[in-house]
Amino acid sequence: MRILVAAAAGLLLLLAVIATPVRAHDPVDINVSYNKEVIRILQRKCEPCHGSGGLSVPLAAYPDVRAWGRAIREEIVERRMPPAIVARGYGQYESDPSLNAREMETLLVWLDGGMPRGDQADLPPVIDASHAHHHSPGPAPATIALPPQTVPAGEHLVVRRVTVRAGAAAGKTIARVQLLPGNSRVLRGARVFAGNQWIGSWLPWQHVMAPPTTHAFQLPARGDVTVELYYRGADAPQVDASTLELTFAAAEARGRLGDIVVEAATVKTGAARGSVQIKQPASVWALYPALDSSVTSMELRVERPDESTEVLMWIPQLRAEWPLSLVMREPVELPAGSVVSLVAESAGASAPRVTLSVMRSPTTPRP
Ligand code: HEC
Repeated sequence: MRILVAAAAGLLLLLAVIATPVRAHDPVDINVSYNKEVIRILQRKCEPCHGSGGLSVPLAAYPDVRAWGRAIREEIVERRMPPAIVARGYGQYESDPSLNAREMETLLVWLDGGMPRGDQADLPPVIDASHAHHHSPGPAPATIALPPQTVPAGEHLVVRRVTVRAGAAAGKTIARVQLLPGNSRVLRGARVFAGNQWIGSWLPWQHVMAPPTTHAFQLPARGDVTVELYYRGADAPQVDASTLELTFAAAEARGRLGDIVVEAATVKTGAARGSVQIKQPASVWALYPALDSSVTSMELRVERPDESTEVLMWIPQLRAEWPLSLVMREPVELPAGSVVSLVAESAGASAPRVTLSVMRSPTTPRP
């Protein structure tokens, strides 16, 4: 399977290399236009970070995209953009920032075909992807203002840990966690914890994290919530004042969520392995890798008592500056006796680690 995917990617790269770019004055005849196909791909896959006032150069208008054409081609062919994080085909996630083969092909045809603008009538309706605010029906969420952070100019990566009182949400069950970014020019991502338990993440392409409605997080009675904020410095110092929103769970959310941590210890230079045997049945709804710049690759797989195996995550090239978190499209069942194992490539001393957020069956019997 992996070989097949690698071969397909290789072929795509080869095709990309063979297709020599056409010069702008050559007559072109392609049926891909900016207004019809290209803008729709960019809105989904690039604008979360390349909107106006985003993390990097704006790619939200035709003249900008055209001007950056050569750089865009290089970034996508080299698979640096969107930040290539997980390998496709291993684990099905709810939001996946990477380009699929069809999107890649469409962009390359357009970039090499003179980047035509196309018909005004084909433009999609205007959306504001960077500030989409999702509200659900029900009681108003608890809102917690995070202390403003000053992010120095030019820094590649700045990580801040802030701890705040959960206030009205302390001791309550929480159905979902949302961060409202204060300054999208610098905020790369965030992870939220209650004590040591992970309760949610925010990423430019993933705004809300909510477990299935049958389950909820229990905040401790005097609950402190810790938020890890990941920044990228801009060309001038910036201040970020983000807000955390905790939405209360409905009564039927009986099940609680817990963490399972799989840690790998070094077995020989470069390679690390570790595994955890599952005692009580659980199902995984989300997971995240610990970030460490000395860890290059990670593979997490489950082997069940019926001998079925499944790769939950494969990261060929871990990029420590993106606080990646993955929400499974469908929860992954871990029957009792399953073994979850982690194999990592690591050059450092710290142990590679993946945390799974799991649902256990409701503890309270139904009336
Ligand atoms: C998750 C955020 C994110 C997404 C999604 C993303 N980018 Fe980027 N992009 C960045 C950041 C941040 C940089 C600056 C370099 C870095 O830190 O890696 C960048 C840099 C670039 C550059 C180089 C600009 C320069 O200064 O040379 C290009 C071109 C680019 N991105 C194109 C794209 C395209 C095309 C897409 C969609 C197919 C995309 N990016 C998706 C975050 C993103």
